[in-house]
Amino acid sequence: MKGKPIIPPVHLSATYKFDNSDDLIDVVQNRSGYIYSRWDNPSVVAVEHAMAAMEGYDQALGFGSGMAAITTALMANVAAGSRVIATQEVYGGTYEFLSDILPKLNVATVLLNCWKTQQILKEIENGVSILYLETPTNPLLRVVDIKPLARAAHEKGAVVILDSTFASPINQHPIDFGVDIVIHSVTKYLGGHHDITAGVVCCNNRHFDTIWTYRKILGGVMDPMTAFLALRGIQTLELRIQRQNENAVKIAEFLDRHEKIKTVYYPGLTTHPDHDIAKRQMMGFGGMLSFEVNGDFDKTKHFMDRLKVIKLATSLGGVTSLANQPITNTHAALSPENRAKAGISESLVRLSVGVEQVDILIEDLKQALEKV
Ligand SMILES: Cc1ncc(COP(=O)(O)O)c(C=O)c1O
Repeated sequence: MKGKPIIPPVHLSATYKFDNSDDLIDVVQNRSGYIYSRWDNPSVVAVEHAMAAMEGYDQALGFGSGMAAITTALMANVAAGSRVIATQEVYGGTYEFLSDILPKLNVATVLLNCWKTQQILKEIENGVSILYLETPTNPLLRVVDIKPLARAAHEKGAVVILDSTFASPINQHPIDFGVDIVIHSVTKYLGGHHDITAGVVCCNNRHFDTIWTYRKILGGVMDPMTAFLALRGIQTLELRIQRQNENAVKIAEFLDRHEKIKTVYYPGLTTHPDHDIAKRQMMGFGGMLSFEVNGDFDKTKHFMDRLKVIKLATSLGGVTSLANQPITNTHAALSPENRAKAGISESLVRLSVGVEQVDILIEDLKQALEKV
């Protein structure tokens, strides 16, 4: 047939047929092809190649969610007696895995505030198997100084893992700062349309085989239809991120000037405590920002309920702008004391800026703030 499809097919096959037993044995022994989709699948491999190229690592692995990627990468690199040092301001599911589940496997975890670089460096001196970081953080957009921490952890022989979901591969290039394993929740910017749940791990060859084996055994692999949508999202990633970066800067500046806004948390603002780190570490300041409304919980809730274009929803990174009040959902499980310690007030709003026209978004925020 003349003419070939420009869109790759979705390989839904769970299993693969062979012309002879020697070929099958070769695939089992050498991963020279496909045998079973929990091991490898061509649609997932296409995403993996794209991700490895984008992040600058030898290889990548697709997962069924960001959490499957995070837990599998950690499990593959710990053993009883390991010591994990992590920043405290990690995603809630990651925090639970580090603080509640890993200790049951006799893995010690030390969680420290992400902005206390000197304290983390001191703790690394006491020995470390894995340094686990996430930057920028949720919801206050703190930016972790990766390079000195990664260097110190490597001197102690540790593996450095970073969740780069909030930055996306367009705004941050963790390999340049010494990170061994980069993780993304593909559910967010990479998918980009709020329609898939997926994750990815990017790493060099020396870390790949173990993580691949753990993925095969734990089974949290990406599914082919999701891989198709992820690849489609990745094709417009750079365009979307450029627009989201631009929109977020303008919205942050608008909110910063607004009399009914107490504080804006955005690393692109010169007033942000980590602005200088963000400037040297990130190529763009990102599409996520948070702010505190001048008022109590009810006033903030009222503001949220008046938003028309911006949707009241959790999650982030897609084309549609989403807002949520962390106290009501993502951080609802925290005790009031821990919430206060984490700096999450009752009037805090997190905004995931989409690709809409920025004037429409600013107008929406303006009208919702009018009645506060
Ligand atoms: C920074 C970060 N990492 C990981 C995850 C988990 O990803 P998933 O929901 O795809 O499992 C999330 C989810 O919100 C996240 O925000």
